[in-house]
Amino acid sequence: MNRARPPRSLLARGDRVWVRTVVHDDLAGYQRAVRGSWDRIGAWNPVSAVDLEWHLGRQSTEHRTFLIHATEPTDEHDIVGKVNVSNVVRGRFQNGTMGYDAYDPYAGRGLFAEGLRLVVDLAFAGEGRGMNLHRVEANVRPGNTRSAGVLRSLGFRREGHVRSMLLLESGDEPAQWRDHDAYAVHRGEWPATPYAAHRPARMALLVDGIRGAGPAEPARLAAAVAAELGLPLFPRGLVPDEAIWGLLAASPVGGVVEGAWSPEAAASVHEGLERAGFDPAIVPRMSDDGRFDDDGTDAPAPVDASAPLQPGDVIRLALRVRAAFA
Ligand SMILES: CC(C)(COP(=O)(O)OP(=O)(O)OC[C@H]1O[C@@H](n2cnc3c(N)ncnc32)[C@H](O)[C@@H]1OP(=O)(O)O)[C@@H](O)C(=O)NCCC(=O)NCCS
Repeated sequence: MNRARPPRSLLARGDRVWVRTVVHDDLAGYQRAVRGSWDRIGAWNPVSAVDLEWHLGRQSTEHRTFLIHATEPTDEHDIVGKVNVSNVVRGRFQNGTMGYDAYDPYAGRGLFAEGLRLVVDLAFAGEGRGMNLHRVEANVRPGNTRSAGVLRSLGFRREGHVRSMLLLESGDEPAQWRDHDAYAVHRGEWPATPYAAHRPARMALLVDGIRGAGPAEPARLAAAVAAELGLPLFPRGLVPDEAIWGLLAASPVGGVVEGAWSPEAAASVHEGLERAGFDPAIVPRMSDDGRFDDDGTDAPAPVDASAPLQPGDVIRLALRVRAAFA
């Protein structure tokens, strides 16, 4: 088969490990490494002692396979781990996806994490020295705390949850489409702070039922929007008025406040939002006619208050809140 010449090797050295793109001499040690780690890895990733040969034949600037080697190896083999950086999309994305495994007897000793850091260095390094990527992502099944822990230890952020993402066997279970959490880091934040805390955007929405519950059912609407946005709900009646702003201030993600505010309460609402860390000019406030306070009279209301609550009402309102805090 007429294959393009493989790209030049990429190499990096650390204290306890060194990293290089795969070469033919790695195949025998890799087979020993995989055979010694079969059961542990098989719970999460498909394992094959011959897949490295397949990858070796496909090396290109858009598909790199890195092996992490121990500086002080055992007699058996020196392969600490394997990391594929593939599915590379260039153009305006410059993104690659990582897949990886660590091998016994090195797994669980911090060597893999040291090597993964070097691989990400190489993924971001410019043309000639590395892969010149802008963003690297890894997708991890929610139960795989070791894998997620390694990524968080390097400062990767969890960006979201992807349903039914990859068709994978798991131990003795047959292949199924499995949900994954998406983690990523981009070049501008690398080297990232280990265990960087997630800082979700804080959002708030006021749902005002002061003119009495119309067909839009403010309480139900507020609960549905809170669920859609993943925000806590502070409902009128359950939370005393004087506690609402303190609770909103304490919430790291903000919240949906369902209230009943008379026009005279405007100043205290303004002050409460400020105390909770929000700019009152930004926080959307919806009244029970389905309009926002800052809408011009011609702007369509996101919710038709004269009709029963529709699923689309919730989504339009949630999108409106997201846009306000974008
Ligand atoms: C995921 C895997 C590659 C990690 O390799 P490893 O050798 O266990 O990782 P390390 O020993 O290098 O771990 C390094 C860091 O991760 C952290 N970590 C490891 N396990 C963790 C856990 N269960 N919870 C939280 N953090 C954890 C460690 O605290 C350590 O950070 P620190 O040095 O800052 O303390 C390995 O467990 C593996 O091969 N798993 C099976 C296959 C797999 O899951 N592949 C990835 C699919 S997405």
